Order: sequence, then structure tokens, then C-alpha cells
Amino acid sequence: MPLSKRLSAIAQLVIPGAGVADIGTDHAYLPIYLVEHGVVTHAIAGEVNQGPYLAAQETIQRASLQSSVSLRLGDGLTVLQPGEVETIVIAGMGATTMTDILNACPAVVQAAKRLVVQPMIGAALMRQWLAKHQWAICEEELIVEDDILYEIIAAEPGEMPAMNPLLYEIGPVLWRQKHPLLEYHMTQSIKQYKKIVENLKLSKTTEAAERCQRLVKKIEELEAWRTCL
Ligand SMILES: C[S@@+](CC[C@H](N)C(=O)[O-])C[C@H]1O[C@@H](n2cnc3c(N)ncnc32)[C@H](O)[C@@H]1O
Repeated sequence: MPLSKRLSAIAQLVIPGAGVADIGTDHAYLPIYLVEHGVVTHAIAGEVNQGPYLAAQETIQRASLQSSVSLRLGDGLTVLQPGEVETIVIAGMGATTMTDILNACPAVVQAAKRLVVQPMIGAALMRQWLAKHQWAICEEELIVEDDILYEIIAAEPGEMPAMNPLLYEIGPVLWRQKHPLLEYHMTQSIKQYKKIVENLKLSKTTEAAERCQRLVKKIEELEAWRTCL
């Protein structure tokens, strides 16, 4: 079965010729694709929930890949030993869940050579986590599929260069490369922040007013940066 555009873009960022782990694999489409196409030597598919685990089991059996795709039931990175794979992929969850997963198993994270993450929300938080834990962003990709914009981030061990805080929001590599979808990405962010500002204006609390002020400033900065594209 062909991969979705989003999963294909993630597949492009995996280190070839080595092992990969896909945490929160659901149907295991990504690890199966990577093994079937000879991109990786072996794959570990991790899943915490019984339903998706059984779905993954069925897909792996149908593809007769039980020997090269190891399916493991468990929470996050607890299914891995340090150094078992070079690339760890975590895709399709919120950044808070992802950072919880990464924080829970530091030895496994430290032994990896590349992290590929695709947060559904909170990409800025994800980039901040990477910088704080000595992971340098090396590649970024934007994909639109079914009218949804996805951000994909790959990082390798290393110090993230000092940068303007707004780049955690925008994506430092996307900005440097002037990604063709970056203007759309920034416009979407501005629209979302404007909606939040409108809602915050309905509240009379000091916290809401302060958050509103911070967001208005961020919107202005994003609008100014967008003119430089
Ligand atoms: C929306 S699906 C994304 C599936 C796939 N990674 C993708 O990007 O298409 C999220 C999956 O992550 C699983 N998941 C959520 N939290 C997890 C955790 N802590 N450990 C392992 N899997 C988890 C869910 O059960 C679900 O199957």
C-alpha cells in the first residue's frame, strides 16, 4: 500500500541502511514501508494501545515481515534498549505527549543518532525541547495533505545554534531555506493566534490580558518576518 504524503516525507528523513523505531506506530505503515523498500535493515514498531497494536500485528503478518519488523506493546521508548536503532520516529501526537515520551527514557534518547518528530500541535515546544536537550535540528519539512499542514523535524545530537526565539515557532531550517510553504505556514499560525486573541479578549482576568498582550506582540513579529520572505 502506498504511504500517505505525510508518512512519505517522514520516511525520507530516516537514516538509511540502519535500524529505525516508530513509536506510536498505529498500523505500522511506516516501518513496513521502510523495510519493504530496503531503506532500513530492521524496524521496531512500538504501540501502547491494544487496538492499534492488533492492527499493526495484522499488517505486519499480511506483509510477512515478522522477522524484520519487531512489534512491541508498551509505553513510548520503554520498548527499546539504548542503541537498538539509529533513528527514532515519533509522529502524529501532540508535542507534550512526545516530550513526555522522550523525557521518560533519557538513555534510549541519548543513544540514538537521529530523532524524527512530527508534532500535530506544539512544534515550537518540540523545537525548544530539542535545543534544551542538545539536539540540533538538521532538516525540516512542511507538507499539506487533505488541507492540513504538517511540520516534520529531524534532529541529530549537537548544540542548536543560538537563534531568535521566534524561529522556534517558524522553524530555523524552514526559514533558512525559505521553504515554499513557509508563507502559508506563517499565515496559518497568525490566523490561529488571532482567533485565540479574540477569545482571550472575552475574559476579564489579568492572566488573559497578559497572554493576549504576548500573543499580539508575537502576531506583529510574525507579520513583520513574513514580509521578508
Ligand atoms: C494519531 S496516531 C499516529 C500514528 C502514526 N505514528 C502516524 O503518524 O500516522 C498516534 C498513535 O500513537 C499511539 N500512542 C500514543 N501515546 C503513546 C505512547 N506513550 N507510547 C506508544 N504509543 C503511543 C496511539 O495509540 C496511536 O496509535
